[in-house]
Amino acid sequence: MSSQIDHLLDEPRRFPPSPEFVAQSIDDPTMYDRAAADREAFWGEQARELLTWSKPFTKVLDWSNAPFAKWFDDGELNVAYNCLDRHVEAGNGDRVAIHWEGEPGDSRSITYAELTDEVKRTANVLAGLGVGHGDRVAIYLPMIPEAVISMLAVTRLGAIHSVVFGGFSADSLRSRIDDAGAKLVITADGGWRKGRVSALKPAVDQALGDRHGEGEQATVEHVLVVKRGGNDVDWTEGRDIWWHDVVPQASAEHEAQAFPAENPLFILYTSGTTGRPKGILHTTGGYLVQSAYTHKYVFDLHPDTDVFWCTADIGWVTGHSYVTYGPLANGATQLMYEGTPDSPHPGRWWELIQKYGVTIFYTAPTAIRSFMKTGRHIPQQFDLSSIRVLGSVGEPINPEAWMWYREVIGAGTAPIVDTWWQTETGAIMVSPLPGVTATKPGSAQVPLPGISVDVADDDGNEVGNGKGGLLVITRPWPAMLRGIWGDPERFKETYWNKFQDRGYYFAGDGARLDEDGDLWLLGRVDDVMNVSGHRLSTTEIESSLVAHEATAEAAVVGANDETTGQAVVAFVIIKQSYLDQHSPEGLVSQLRAWVGEQIGPIARPRDVYIVNELPKTRSGKIMRRLLRDVAEGREVGDTTTLADTMVMSTISDQVK
Ligand code: WT7
Repeated sequence: MSSQIDHLLDEPRRFPPSPEFVAQSIDDPTMYDRAAADREAFWGEQARELLTWSKPFTKVLDWSNAPFAKWFDDGELNVAYNCLDRHVEAGNGDRVAIHWEGEPGDSRSITYAELTDEVKRTANVLAGLGVGHGDRVAIYLPMIPEAVISMLAVTRLGAIHSVVFGGFSADSLRSRIDDAGAKLVITADGGWRKGRVSALKPAVDQALGDRHGEGEQATVEHVLVVKRGGNDVDWTEGRDIWWHDVVPQASAEHEAQAFPAENPLFILYTSGTTGRPKGILHTTGGYLVQSAYTHKYVFDLHPDTDVFWCTADIGWVTGHSYVTYGPLANGATQLMYEGTPDSPHPGRWWELIQKYGVTIFYTAPTAIRSFMKTGRHIPQQFDLSSIRVLGSVGEPINPEAWMWYREVIGAGTAPIVDTWWQTETGAIMVSPLPGVTATKPGSAQVPLPGISVDVADDDGNEVGNGKGGLLVITRPWPAMLRGIWGDPERFKETYWNKFQDRGYYFAGDGARLDEDGDLWLLGRVDDVMNVSGHRLSTTEIESSLVAHEATAEAAVVGANDETTGQAVVAFVIIKQSYLDQHSPEGLVSQLRAWVGEQIGPIARPRDVYIVNELPKTRSGKIMRRLLRDVAEGREVGDTTTLADTMVMSTISDQVK
């Protein structure tokens, strides 16, 4: 790994923006100096410029109770008003907010005026169902406009949404609903994926059913169901309500009330190093400022001419910040697509770019690598000349994929912005500015104006250029998480205790600064994997495996994978009692399917190896490093700290 990194750090190629690009760009190099001169004044300026405040704030940051930050604390605003009504009031009601395309090819273009109406109607319906300030609403929907409408209707009322990715299982949905104590669930009968309808409602029924366990109180009063798939659904009278029976009939009059800037906006669950997902909490003012700011400058947005497309699902933070909040706060026109990239044909994405004249395209390295594999002849069948900015997010992008992206999708001219951030940071933190930065294939490069990051050693000392260490964020930022839902201790422990004396945020990523001071991300330093840009916890998958009746012990590692970045590889010890009664035939595929059902298909292991033993230290800690060597087909590293040094050769034999 490290020789590979040294090789990357020798990257000599630089791609400055063309003079034509610079001439039309809104990016301004002096932003860096202005932000450095007075960070808080800079953010205050952004907040006033980008948003409409019902009550102006007088103080930018209150860090007196660190790490619990307050941004723009005495200011008041309504997020939905900022994303909708004010654009209509400014005369842009006829501008398309969302060009939506369903997987089977049905489509719908929704203007700002129409979207505002829909959100007002939905807000009235939610209020009628008893949703009010501070209540939690779970959203479990496919990529349809109602997903965005629901999020905005919830925040319009000062309530809190918790969007759960539609690919998550009933169990995952259940634990998220319970942890947040959701009052309402918004879902659909099903949505289109890979050429067929994939049902969603049954998972909701299952998640809400059968609550006899201790502490399993049913907090959910109603389920609002959008008809999308047309598939048959079970119906619980009195609890379930069809969207089409209530939303179109509701009044389109709804005045948005202003809420304090620190009013919660959403909870989004993400994997941590333990088995239990963390409910990352974001609030309204600071989050919206930084989503709008980054969406504007990182993508060089021209809202009256650009067509923006972020391919992320609404269930991830990228969908929150760059499908819903950033683009709509900026009054942009965007494309939203329901389905998979290869349905019904492998050129579907490129066909959509051609059809809608997409100018800014934001996707993940895993997608780029899978398109590389199928070949450039597919995108080359389409007219992609509208594209002027390309973005990458979710994992490091290897220079080869970066160059392919630039040449094949960006015609060798579109700047690429490799954006580093996390669910916890809320919005982009490190990225080139396309109108300013000379980009470097594979490096996320520089913190944005107003953001301070560094690479530190274990004691928090900066390592300096040319050395590796831990990525830290050294100053608070507006879209920072405000906590973990219901668990302030875990919040401090996970992110702040490591560098407590300095007040640094620990990101969990390894990083290195090259000789120019540009940042290279080197992957997670904790037990978190990154599979196709999705974050998964090794512990969570291990817990799921041992919950299967056959499993005695399990160890999971993230192994390098050409397409998905990392892949889940599991090593499992089977119980003798199980083997006495069952044949091990088909057990591997059973275990893979089991994890898929328990957590979701994205967590399904690529490989499951059945072994007799796991490599452990004398204190009983599993040495995953050695298992990773096996999973990646390498010579097994240093085994001297193992309790039984022979164990690895047995495992290697069993894997073969
Ligand atoms: C982790 C956060 C940010 C939204 C999607 C993922 C990795 C993210 C990059 C990048 C290298 C990246 C990090 C980070 N990551 N973007 N441009 N280069 N690594 O959000 O699920 O919270 O995952 O994704 O490891 O910690 P997330």
